[in-house]
Parts: sequence; C-alpha cells; structure tokens
Amino acid sequence: MQLNNKPIGVFDSGIGGLTVLRHLVRKLPNESFIYLGDTARVPYGNKSAETVKQYSLQCATFLKQHDVKLIVVACNTASALALDTLQAEFEIPIIGVISSAAQAASNATHNNHIGVIGTRATIASDSYALQISGFGDLKRALHHVHSRPCPLFVPLVEEGWLNSPATRLIAEEYLRPLIANGIDTLVLGCTHYPLLSPLLQSILPGVTLIDCGECAAEDVVGLNLTSSAESDNANHISMYVTDYSPSFSKLANQFLGLPVDEPTLVTIDSLVQSHGATKLG
Ligand code: DGL
Repeated sequence: MQLNNKPIGVFDSGIGGLTVLRHLVRKLPNESFIYLGDTARVPYGNKSAETVKQYSLQCATFLKQHDVKLIVVACNTASALALDTLQAEFEIPIIGVISSAAQAASNATHNNHIGVIGTRATIASDSYALQISGFGDLKRALHHVHSRPCPLFVPLVEEGWLNSPATRLIAEEYLRPLIANGIDTLVLGCTHYPLLSPLLQSILPGVTLIDCGECAAEDVVGLNLTSSAESDNANHISMYVTDYSPSFSKLANQFLGLPVDEPTLVTIDSLVQSHGATKLG
C-alpha cells in the first residue's frame, strides 16, 4: 500500500456535499480534506448540462491547484452531468456518487423495483436508470427503475424542516407513484436527502434507503490512497465557499455532523479565471 499524505478534494454545489464528507471523514480517519461548496451558484439541479459542466470544471480546477490526490464529486447533479468531462480533463482519480449507489441499489433489491429521487437535472439525465439497469449485467437487466424529481426537498432541508407536517405532505405526494410501483429500494439521489431519511423511512417502512454518500465513501476506501496515521493533518478539513451567509455554520454543522471551521471565501471570478488559466497553460 502506497502512502500519500496529500488531501482529498471534495466539491458540491453548496453544503449538500457535506453529507458525503461526513462518511468520508468517518471511514478515512487518517485523511485530510479540502471541501469547496459553490454556495454562490447553488442550486445546480435546475441548470443546463453545459452550465453544470463549466461550474464543475472550475471547482475541480480549484481543488487540483490545491494539490489534491483525488477528487470526490459530492453532488449528484454534477456527477450525472459532468463526471465524464472531469475524468477526461484531469489525470488524478475522480469519483462521482452515482455508480456506487446504483450498484448498492442493484444489490439491495429483492423484487427488482428500484426508486430513484433527485434533482430535475439528475433525473432528466437518466444516469441512475442507465447505471442501475445497464452494462449488459444480466441481474441488472431485470431491474425496473422508477424515477422522480423532488425539487422542493432541497429548500425544505435548508430551511431545517426535516420532520414538519408540510414536508411530510410533500414527501407523500412525491413518493405516491413510487409506492404504487412497489419499490423495495429507494436511492436518495441528492446530497440533501439523507437528512430526510427518518421521515422518508416512516413513509416507506420496509424499503431500503440508499445513501449515495455512504456508497461513494466505500468507493474511496477501495482505492487505498492512504495517508500515514502520523500525518499532522489527519482528519483536518479546509473549508472553502463561494458565498458566505450567516446561516452557513449552523447548516454546515447539521450536514456534516461535526462543528465546522470558518470557511474561506473564494470569488467566482477567481474560479472562472483558474479554469481559463489551466486550459491556456
Ligand atoms: N447537491 C445537489 C445534488 O446532489 C443538490 C443541490 C443542487 O441542486 O445543487 O444533486
């Protein structure tokens, strides 16, 4: 096993990716992390594929300039629309959150009816459906994927309405067709949704919920890009955002499950220029 003390880079459209970082931190206690939340341009989930690709390239370039050994795209929308572009652009490993969650859903289902919920862009991309039922795998070919965009969940979670009657009503409405389809497994295909797990599980008793962050963290563990236990930086998180609002620390703490250091502000101008500079160089 080769030691490599460089940090792991993680980016998301905002704070949602902290639910992915939460699992990375738990599973990789010797690693240090650089997290970039593009809070000035969130949400990505309602934007065009071209825009999400450009933003993702800029975020990944920023992380690469901080000499990370690996980039985790801790955003389903960016993983759905930009992962191929990022993997073609950078030489370091780039891990998205979709393929491992698709694999976990395929392993978990007993009746072959799998639900997927996510942003409009993630669901419109069909990435989950393709990965769950594709690639010539005979077991996967039997799967039926029932997808539904749930755009109201992101603002509800950011409002902290994790178990309010309004959220329950909206969740019941969103999930009704998936229940009618008899799903036994549901992929939470958006980084905000794990915070709604208790509510969703109460509406879907007996259904296995798949947390894409947990699956992606397992993927990273499998890469064996290990830092030494003596590394001074072990488990240190450097936090960067493109916009800072007073609610950041409270929300970030809730998403990460740990106290969060004050983030450093990165301007959008510098992000845009950094990708331009990399391309020219
Ligand atoms: N992080 C995004 C995702 O997982 C949700 C928020 C957004 O729309 O940008 O798809």
